[in-house]
Amino acid sequence: MVTRRKGLGHSLKDILKNDLTAEELDKFMNGYNKTIYIIGAGGHGKVVADIAKKNGYKKIYFLDDSTKGQLGTYSIVGTTDDIDEIHQREKDADFFIAIGNNEIREKVFKKLKERDIKLPILIHPSAVIDETVEIGEGTVFVANAVINAGTKVGKNCIINTSASVDHDCIVEDCVHVSPGVHIAGGVHIGKRTWVGIGSSVINNINIYDDVIVGAGTTIIKHIERPGKYVGMPLRRLDQ
Ligand SMILES: CC(C)(COP(=O)(O)OP(=O)(O)OC[C@H]1O[C@@H](n2cnc3c(N)ncnc32)[C@H](O)[C@@H]1OP(=O)(O)O)[C@@H](O)C(=O)NCCC(=O)NCCS
Repeated sequence: MVTRRKGLGHSLKDILKNDLTAEELDKFMNGYNKTIYIIGAGGHGKVVADIAKKNGYKKIYFLDDSTKGQLGTYSIVGTTDDIDEIHQREKDADFFIAIGNNEIREKVFKKLKERDIKLPILIHPSAVIDETVEIGEGTVFVANAVINAGTKVGKNCIINTSASVDHDCIVEDCVHVSPGVHIAGGVHIGKRTWVGIGSSVINNINIYDDVIVGAGTTIIKHIERPGKYVGMPLRRLDQ
């Protein structure tokens, strides 16, 4: 069984309770500063850039280890090898990781944390997040995501378009909840797990670390081992 873990991040409640200074609140609501380097110039990167813009970032650049040039109107200005130089040069610039693959996103996250770089939380204005929800740094909520009371969402997660995570869930670090996923109350999702597009999880289910849930899967039983799972009844693909 997956053990439940605490302390995933700070709470929107603290922010809404006026525990922050006006400057800190402004940084939270409008971007920690006005420049952001988004790591990962792919499709998800474009989505994150739009959210960053809506969160008040004025200068948006991309870093990518395999693509150069432009991503739409945005410039790809370097690779992850340039993080140190950028961080030295622009102390106030933020970094955000927009890589869909959970393992690679975690690797880059570790690289940033080794340098004590704190990542912002990006929230699309149409997302609905209860004030009691705790959120870890580097997590993005895409358009129409809904997160209900008492839920904790870890660091470096993607809660994608129109996904809902109901009350009292724990979503561990580096998880990707794909578009249109519905997670009922009291569900625990382990580290680096990817819940595929359009899947549903009934209440009080534990899904282990490093699980891939295939598109459109309905989960009605605990998943207690890493692996790739699809279908109804659920079957494991990689065994
Ligand atoms: C689960 C998944 C990762 C498996 O990919 P894969 O390892 O390449 O698997 P394959 O396509 O080779 O399929 C292997 C078998 O599983 C079946 N299968 C694959 N995905 C399935 C799914 N979501 N539901 C039911 N069966 C599925 C295939 O039909 C095939 O069955 P067969 O062996 O009886 O012919 C992939 O199909 C999937 O669902 N990805 C999620 C994509 C997603 O959510 N994208 C959103 C991005 S934001």
